[in-house]
Amino acid sequence: MKLWKAVLTWTKTRSDAPDKVQAFLEKRLPRNVSWLHTLGALLLFYIILQTLTGILMGLYYSPSPDQAHESIRYIDTQLRFGSFVHSLHHHGAAFILITAFFHLMRSFFLAAYRAPRELLWLSGLGLFLLLTLFAFTGQLLPFDQHGYWATEVGIRIASAPPVLGPYIHEFLTGGYGDIGATTISRFMILHVAVLPLLFFGLTALHLSLLQKVGSAGPLQGSPEPYHPFFPKQLLKDLLVTTLGVLLLFLVAWIFPPIDSGPADPGASGFVPRPEWYFFAHYEILRMLPSGWQLLGTFILPTAAGAALALLPFLDRKGSKLLPGKLRVTLGILTILGVTGLTTTGLIEESREKPQKNAIIGDPVTAGKKLFHTKRCTKCHSIGTEKGGDKGPNLARVARRIRSDYFKPWIRKPQSFKADTEMPNFDGSEEELDAIVRYLKTLK
Ligand code: HEC
Repeated sequence: MKLWKAVLTWTKTRSDAPDKVQAFLEKRLPRNVSWLHTLGALLLFYIILQTLTGILMGLYYSPSPDQAHESIRYIDTQLRFGSFVHSLHHHGAAFILITAFFHLMRSFFLAAYRAPRELLWLSGLGLFLLLTLFAFTGQLLPFDQHGYWATEVGIRIASAPPVLGPYIHEFLTGGYGDIGATTISRFMILHVAVLPLLFFGLTALHLSLLQKVGSAGPLQGSPEPYHPFFPKQLLKDLLVTTLGVLLLFLVAWIFPPIDSGPADPGASGFVPRPEWYFFAHYEILRMLPSGWQLLGTFILPTAAGAALALLPFLDRKGSKLLPGKLRVTLGILTILGVTGLTTTGLIEESREKPQKNAIIGDPVTAGKKLFHTKRCTKCHSIGTEKGGDKGPNLARVARRIRSDYFKPWIRKPQSFKADTEMPNFDGSEEELDAIVRYLKTLK
């Protein structure tokens, strides 16, 4: 105890960190702060985890059109826990955006943007914008079909604003007009350097503002008396954060990221779709008649952003602009709208699936791709083409295996060998056919 005190005194005369921590723990919160007040802490943890998994991926990732996809496949198939870390980073993005959305809605419901929290609200809006840019720049990096085509559409949207549009387009594509080496490098540098710097700076501001003005109290009832952050709220934060992180781990474990094959700029017929958390915006774009696209790509998002930014100055305490009931109704309608549109998008996507799986072009080439996308490479190498080593190298497999034996084996290996590690094939008959045709060329 004495030693502890000595260390503390020593530190206190050299740094104000201990006082800051103490002030933080003793920070007075309005009574009845609800469970919704834990979303900020959860968000912070997701972001720390996302940074860690991002750094781990960065150790193996190579940002070039030739190697990007290959390096992600290496992470997925060769590294211990590689696929899991990739999965955590992939789904982490969705968890972060969803949590940020509800954190923002919570602040809206409680009118937490009002004086003296205007700057807190504005910095939060800035952080939200940065998060969407993280997701946008991240989806191109694996350089698979899905990310490539979604980015194609995304760049078109980003280039929509009048005047600035052409410059944005030139910046994102390096002036070449389409997605190539320069685009990957620029997205990479945005994703791992520019955005993180802005993000952590703004987060520091957001938290120091919070420390100054405190959390907004509940809607009803008098905010007095206050109680300190430690221990009750800290425990609530810890509980929600633990559950939230466990949920992310579970989802990442059950749904490994899907590899849609290396990006192929020539592939006509690939239906471009953004990640599902952008579906709400995407569905609005699809609903607009052609010729009205600028409304969806630029005018509406800008108007919505401006309205949110001006909100603290228009709807002040005592102003009649947004009476409590109207505000709550608006908030609920927004949540219902976003959820509804996202669900529509998910249903649409599941309808398009069969078409997406259709074999386009030469079945042997398609089969070769499927061999990767169906994760056969997790266990099989082919000659010098590297894959896992749980199963035999398939370099000359067509010499070993009778040709009519391929299909039943791959479809259901367990029916031949009960204790085999090889999983049953989950694809369509057409896909199986393509893979087998490809394997038969390996003599
Ligand atoms: C989890 C690991 C794993 C995955 C994933 C896997 N396999 Fe296998 N595969 C094996 C193992 C192990 C064997 C050897 C049979 C045994 O002893 O169980 C094998 C055997 C084979 C054989 C017979 C090879 C021979 O020389 O006898 C073929 C063909 C084959 N796999 C194709 C595929 C295809 C196609 C896919 C993707 C749809 C795939 N495998 C996915 C583990 C896997």
